[in-house]
Amino acid sequence: MELVAYGIAPLVAILPSIQDYLARLMDRLYSLLFWSSFVAVCSSTSITDIQGSTWRSPLVGQNVTNVTGIVTAKASNGFYMTGDPVEDPRVSNGLFVFSTPAASRVEIGDLVSMDGTVTEFRSSSAPNDLFTTEIAPTLSTVNVISSNHVVTPVVLGKDRFPPTVALSALDVGPDGVLSAPNNVSLIEVVNATLEPEKYGLDFWESLEGQLVSVTNPVVLDFPNRFGEFWVHGDWPVTGKNERGGLTVTFGPDGIPDLNPEAIIIGTPLDGTKNPAVAVGSRVSDIVGVVAFQFGFFYVLPLTAPATVFVNTTRATKSFIDGTSADECTLTVGDYNVENMAPTSTHIPTVADHIANFLNAPDIMFVQEIQDNSGPTDDGVVIANVTLKALTDAIAKAGNVTYDFIEIPPVDGQDGGQPGGNIRTAFLYRPEKLSLVPGSPVGGSLDSVEVLDSYGKASLSLNPGRIDPTNPAWIATRKPLVAEWQTASGTRLFTVNLHLSSKGGSSSLHGDARPPINLPVDTRTKQVESVSSFLNSLLDKDPDANIVVAGDFNEFTQTRSVLASITAIMSEVDELADIPPVERYTYVFDQNTEQLDHMFVSSAIGKRKVEAEHIHVNNWSPSLDVRVSDHDPSVARVRVC
Ligand SMILES: *[C@@H]1O[C@H](CO)[C@@H](O)[C@H](O)[C@H]1NC(C)=O
Ligand SMILES: *[C@@H]1O[C@H](CO)[C@@H](O)[C@H](O)[C@H]1NC(C)=O
Ligand SMILES: *[C@@H]1O[C@H](CO)[C@@H](O)[C@H](O)[C@H]1NC(C)=O
Ligand SMILES: *[C@@H]1O[C@H](CO)[C@@H](O)[C@H](O)[C@H]1NC(C)=O
Ligand SMILES: *[C@@H]1O[C@H](CO)[C@@H](O)[C@H](O)[C@H]1NC(C)=O
Ligand SMILES: *[C@@H]1O[C@H](CO)[C@@H](O)[C@H](O)[C@H]1NC(C)=O
Ligand SMILES: *[C@@H]1O[C@H](CO)[C@@H](O)[C@H](O)[C@H]1NC(C)=O
Repeated sequence: MELVAYGIAPLVAILPSIQDYLARLMDRLYSLLFWSSFVAVCSSTSITDIQGSTWRSPLVGQNVTNVTGIVTAKASNGFYMTGDPVEDPRVSNGLFVFSTPAASRVEIGDLVSMDGTVTEFRSSSAPNDLFTTEIAPTLSTVNVISSNHVVTPVVLGKDRFPPTVALSALDVGPDGVLSAPNNVSLIEVVNATLEPEKYGLDFWESLEGQLVSVTNPVVLDFPNRFGEFWVHGDWPVTGKNERGGLTVTFGPDGIPDLNPEAIIIGTPLDGTKNPAVAVGSRVSDIVGVVAFQFGFFYVLPLTAPATVFVNTTRATKSFIDGTSADECTLTVGDYNVENMAPTSTHIPTVADHIANFLNAPDIMFVQEIQDNSGPTDDGVVIANVTLKALTDAIAKAGNVTYDFIEIPPVDGQDGGQPGGNIRTAFLYRPEKLSLVPGSPVGGSLDSVEVLDSYGKASLSLNPGRIDPTNPAWIATRKPLVAEWQTASGTRLFTVNLHLSSKGGSSSLHGDARPPINLPVDTRTKQVESVSSFLNSLLDKDPDANIVVAGDFNEFTQTRSVLASITAIMSEVDELADIPPVERYTYVFDQNTEQLDHMFVSSAIGKRKVEAEHIHVNNWSPSLDVRVSDHDPSVARVRVC
């Protein structure tokens, strides 16, 4: 009963639509008739039909016939071919033919045809990998029609230009690609139409399987262990620093720009070996095919390029003098010294960096100091032998005496290399500064409080750890705070941070958008924990001199993480007017970036601030001679 009642009324309402529907149906029938007669006459599917203008092939899973193209490159498990192009820049006319036996039948330059099945392949599921459109040929149908054809590569920077700011339309949120929450959509599920003029990933996808050339490549990173390295070619780029790398910056409209114009050069297809390169090296022109593998779009070169330029310029000593006779002028240095144990062979080099490149600042903030037994997991947590080894080495390198302070962690509770118990510590020059006396040294789990001392703020523990039992700090380094005084009694607070690392994050070229940035929520809470301490300090003394520095494992451009501290403190880079492209301490994949930061309170910020990042590691000739993955930084501030 109810069904009938429901059925009649809508039927009346949709009568006009039924006519419309019938008209559409006729259209469909006509077009089906047209296409089937067409297919019968000339049975072929073009590469561009297979690629289509979306992320996934419109023909995936279907059998296609007489697909023709010219072989452009051979790989171990198949070959690449190029067919007739179409006007539409979204549609690639290159394709990977997945078949080892088929590859053995063809040579570069052969015009071939085949029947086969269209597939979309990826070696692992989301979040890192995107699909590659392929054809799996029916072997008996792979025919070589003729040979010695020449395919002209698409010249990047002449025929096509990579976008320079955004990677994907799906990177939505106030911080673009760095927004939290992330992983809110997957490229391959959305399967949008490509927008290669606007988005980097769409651009590279629109060239999938295509033969391209990269002219005048500039190297952006050290090679990975497979000899693969990132470059940009002769095309417009943004974020270019003096060394030649591409820095993470803000693009127009304040969107974080993580350099979609860069591409990684893979292992050469002919078995030759890529040269050893470093940031700012240049190599000869590269011709290769665009492929997606291991989380990234690649250009797989037909043969290895040669090095044509090596930048032999090394970092030099900072323009900032390490110490000064003026009591009101203090220098602070910051360095993640990468898993330093008493036996570490990199101690003398790090000591030389501190003594002769940073010029022995009054206070050094160091991170990744391991306990006295290094990575041996034996219950030892104290690091005084490690710190003594470092300060002795500095004395030798620079004839300058440092004392040090630390608070050992609870064994195994602060993350990092197992057994190493890495922690942050301060080195200081006792002739310039001393710890404000009167408060005991805090234990690993004691939370420092801000005390009111005759209208000024002071610390209940000196040094102390901030909020160490807050769940935000589980399995990571707890922040170390100390209060110092100069001979004439000027006070300074310093906070040394090493936030949770980005391990486990997804690839910038991956399926998950915005890319998964682990553990971004934890880092946000860690910064909030510190900011809440800073607020209690500034509440008691708005004019307090405070320097917060360390390895934040996060970019300035991830504004959501730093919001609580940028609301109350200023970054020295900004105050010292360092050009945005020169603000970096780290290089990872295609990006030169700043993970290490130094913030100062307004009492310091209103006076002159100078700062410099010293690229002793990122300007190394190779990874082997680099002593840390981070560059140190130094600043000169006025505290009275
Ligand atoms: C295969 O396709 C080509 C054009 O791509 C066409 O010239 C040829 O006639 C086709 N062969 C068959 C058997 O359909
Ligand atoms: C992707 O989009 C194309 C074009 O609209 C469509 O033909 C194809 O079925 C889509 N694939 C998936 C998996 O959504
Ligand atoms: C494609 O061809 C293969 C082999 O001839 C066959 O097994 C398969 O069912 C076909 N698939 C479709 C979708 O027609
Ligand atoms: C990312 O999102 C996908 C799809 O919603 C989900 O399966 C996956 O577990 C998520 N990964 C992470 C690390 O959040
Ligand atoms: C070499 O590196 C230095 C320091 O980064 C830079 O100033 C210089 O421009 C570079 N030289 C070339 C030719 O790239
Ligand atoms: C390290 O500390 C322990 C315990 O306080 C002490 O016995 C030892 O002498 C110290 N070693 C150095 C090198 O300072
Ligand atoms: C080391 O420094 C001290 C005190 O500043 C000075 O007297 C001495 O000459 C210096 N020694 C060397 C080798 O520079």
